[in-house]
Order: sequence, then C-alpha cells, then structure tokens
Amino acid sequence: MTPARSNLRIDSGRLWNAIHETAKFGGTPKGGVRRLTLGPEDKQVRDWFRAACEAAGCEVRVDGLGTMFAIRKGRDMSKAPVGLGSHLDTQPTGGKFDGILGTLAALEVVRTLNDADIETDAPLCIANWTNEEGSRFAPAMMASAAYAGDFTTENILGRLDAEGISVAQALDTIGYRGVDPVGQQKFSAFVELHIEQGPLLEAEGKTIGVVDRGQGIMWYDGRIAGFASHAGTTPMPLRRDALAAFSELVLAIEKIVKDHGPHAVGTVGEIIVENPSRNVIPGDLVFTTDIRSPDGKTLDALHEAVSAAAADIGKRRKVAITLEQVWRKEPTVFNTTLVDAVATATETLGYSNRRITSGAGHDACNLATVVPSAMIFVPCKDGISHNELEDATQADCAAGANVLLHTALSLAGIAD
Ligand code: GLV
Ligand code: MN
Ligand code: MN
Repeated sequence: MTPARSNLRIDSGRLWNAIHETAKFGGTPKGGVRRLTLGPEDKQVRDWFRAACEAAGCEVRVDGLGTMFAIRKGRDMSKAPVGLGSHLDTQPTGGKFDGILGTLAALEVVRTLNDADIETDAPLCIANWTNEEGSRFAPAMMASAAYAGDFTTENILGRLDAEGISVAQALDTIGYRGVDPVGQQKFSAFVELHIEQGPLLEAEGKTIGVVDRGQGIMWYDGRIAGFASHAGTTPMPLRRDALAAFSELVLAIEKIVKDHGPHAVGTVGEIIVENPSRNVIPGDLVFTTDIRSPDGKTLDALHEAVSAAAADIGKRRKVAITLEQVWRKEPTVFNTTLVDAVATATETLGYSNRRITSGAGHDACNLATVVPSAMIFVPCKDGISHNELEDATQADCAAGANVLLHTALSLAGIAD
C-alpha cells in the first residue's frame, strides 16, 4: 500500500456522531436503547441507514428477511463484494454499541474511501442483518442463519413473537420485506466489528481483540406442569409446586455449568408463571435457557446433564418438566486467512491486541460456515453489554473502525 493509503484513517468524530444520532431511535431515559427487531424504532433506524448509505453512493437492496445490503461499487464488479457490518436491533434494555458499532463503522469505512477518492478492486457491501438479538423472535441471528442455509426463509417468516405476530407480518408492517431471495447477495469475505461484550480486553489494557473462535450456543424452551391449589390449605408434602421445582432446576443448571469448567456458561433468562396469584401454588410456568461453551463435546455433556437433572427433579417433585432444545449453534472457528488479515491490519496500525474467543453469538459466526469470515473486537466499559449502561470509548471505536478499514482494503484490493 502506498504511504498515503497506509496513513488513511476513518473520521472518529463522524463515526461517534452517527452512533449517537441513531441511539435516539429507541433511546431510553437511562441512556440505553430499546430497539426490538422489526418494531417502529427499527424502521426508523433502517430508514436512517438506507438514506445514509444512498447518500454515500451505495445501492441498497433488501432480502426476503429484511436484511439490508448496501453495495459500494468496485472496479471489478464480477468479483463478489467484501462484506462488512453487523446489526441495528437491540435487546429490550440494550446499549448504543452492540451491533450498531459494526454497522456504522462499515458505513464510516465507505465514507472514508469516498472522501479519499479510493476505488477498491472488489466491491464492498455493508450489511444490517435482521434480528441478531433474538429477544423478540427466536432464534438469535436468524437472518444470517437462513443466509447460511440453517433454516429456510419460510421457516423464519413463520416465527412468532410473544404477541403472536409473525416475522412476515412484522416485516410487512415496517415495509422491509425485500424482494431479493435470501442468500442471493454473495460475499468473498465477511468482517464484523463489535464491542467485546466481556471484560478481557479492558482488563488487559488491549485495544483490539482479533477474534479467532466463537462459542457454541444451545437454547431451550422449558415448561413445568405442576398442580395449582390453595396456598393456605394444601399441606407441604402434598404440593406439586411448579415454581419450587423451577427454583431447584435453576440452581441445578448453575451447578452443572460450573462443574463443566471455566468456559461454560448457562442462564435461565425468562420465566412466566401462568395465572399467578399470591395465594395459589404455582401450577404451570414456562421458561427459557441459554447454555454456551466453546467446545462441542462440552455442549453434548451439558445437554445430557441438564436433561437428566430436569427428569430427576420432575420425578421427585411429581411435576412434568419439558425442556425442548429449540436451537443449537456449533462453536465457530473463523477463517485463518481472514483472522491473519485482521491481525496484520491491527499490527500495522500499531494497536495492542490479543487473540480472543467470542462469548456472544454474532452474524459472522453464522456466515463463517459459508463465507470466509472474521471479527474484530474493541473493549467495552467493565465488560458490560445487554444493558443500558453498555459503553465504549470514542478512541477504541475509532481504532476498531480503522482495523476494519485496512482489513477491507487488504481483502478488496485497491483499483490502480
Ligand atoms: C447475541 O446477542 C447473543 O445472545 O450472543
Ligand atoms: Mn451484537
Ligand atoms: Mn447482543
């Protein structure tokens, strides 16, 4: 690369402004963002993103699951674009950075190349993947999973939220059911910048995480059927209390996961007691569980142990426990050539760094099964994410975007 190009840097202030401008769509009083996928705030941010990409000279296309692709032309349009991006939806009490940083940094890369009048050889494509978070519709990362062939488009369109609204209806309501078949947009490579969402980079004072692996994930829908009866008159030994059984199961899951080593994690994140009342013994409840490990065999062992614990607790407490695995995502190993490209860009830019495994799921983890993919992490304050307090510094966001820029240039090539 010529010295002028190796000196090229993104505009840190412009990226920071874009992050804060879009944080208004679904902004919460505590400084976070509530922008559930395919809701009205998601439409607002999508409209903003579309307009910004078009203003930057990109052609924006939308696929049948609402994923947005903004193409910046390259010299050789016969080449598949280098994909850059992440997602713009958030958790119910999410922050300003999870997903948004990677999408807006990709836009910033395009804006920077425009300002410097640089044409790449291969085109670039900024992606905003639908429903990365998975809190309104399960599973998480569903559009990239369909892109990778893990689900059909029809299967995903039929998924329902808690109100019974389907993905298809939600897409139509906000006008983002595009015409392109899912998977039509090809990539020669895909690179996603993201905050780490964990504590390692900050603790070690490192600016960049060169992500080489991602944890595997298992999601479960659970149900416990006991027997609802009078809280004052039913003797303790005769009760079939669904909530008491649930409590035992939550602690059993916690113990099982801890017993499977330092890298396994497990969470019971949602519970709904049906027809709750202070003086009725809980009869029925539903809950969800999320279990992760970077190792596939450990996932198998966790599945066996948790299923056995559920069966044991159900038998002893005379309640029916069903624990259905609704999603399993195998651990990700990112493409060595791309990981090396990220490492080289990071070293060339002089940022401190370390190799890192992603604890969170990401669209790049799905894409990795069909496209050479890699990820770049930057630190976030106290490792906090999926929380309105999520925070990151302008300098670290800019560093990550610069690594994204130079990785993209090395993959796409410069057209002269
Ligand atoms: C995605 O946000 C995940 O749950 O890792
Ligand atoms: Mn994310
Ligand atoms: Mn997230």
